[in-house]
Amino acid sequence: MRISIVSLFPGMFESVFNDSIIKRAMDSNLVTIDYYNFRDYSLDPHKKVDDTPFGGGAGMLLMCQPIIDCINDIKTDDSLVVLLTPSGIPFKESIAYDLSKVKHLILICGHYEGFDERVKSVVDMELSIGDYVLTGGEIPAMVIVDAVTRLIPGVINEESHLNDSFSDPLVLDYPNYTKPRDFRGMLVPEVLLSGDHKKIDEWRKSQADLKTREVRPDLKS
Ligand code: ADE
Repeated sequence: MRISIVSLFPGMFESVFNDSIIKRAMDSNLVTIDYYNFRDYSLDPHKKVDDTPFGGGAGMLLMCQPIIDCINDIKTDDSLVVLLTPSGIPFKESIAYDLSKVKHLILICGHYEGFDERVKSVVDMELSIGDYVLTGGEIPAMVIVDAVTRLIPGVINEESHLNDSFSDPLVLDYPNYTKPRDFRGMLVPEVLLSGDHKKIDEWRKSQADLKTREVRPDLKS
């Protein structure tokens, strides 16, 4: 899979992607990540990429020309173009799953107060990572790259994402324990030590259900 990040601040991604699982996925060519700075596409003599909004109002908007020209330069028939914006649809695991099947994912990161609406003429999907406003789309892009990359076959052990919170759209993960059995009086539940896998599965399902009802009743029908 190829992921292209379109951003004014490509340097922000370096340290985040150059460690751990994403780095391993890149090293084994399961994913390639490239960067485009849309300032390079500005036709303005001073490489300006933002301007004041028509109709007045605070802040600066990203102009459509640099972004549209950049996207038209890099997109192919295999590309899906995603705009990161707090007014997009909420990003969730099922969307990460769909995106992990795309051959070429393009993520557009905004900055400043937003975009000229005409940017959307080259966009297939608008995504938000939550109901809050960040200073730019770079951190949302990191979140999406991370969530999508780990779902690419071969990046992590498949079984580990079958058990993830949200893999089943309706439940959170059950509680997990590792050694020691007794940590300063906090004990591992007996059932997990029983070796009875049917019982363990039932316990895990009921715990996941309980946790979901407590913490995310909105996920339960
Ligand atoms: N840009 C700024 N805030 C954002 C958010 N919550 N999700 C996606 N992109 C954003």
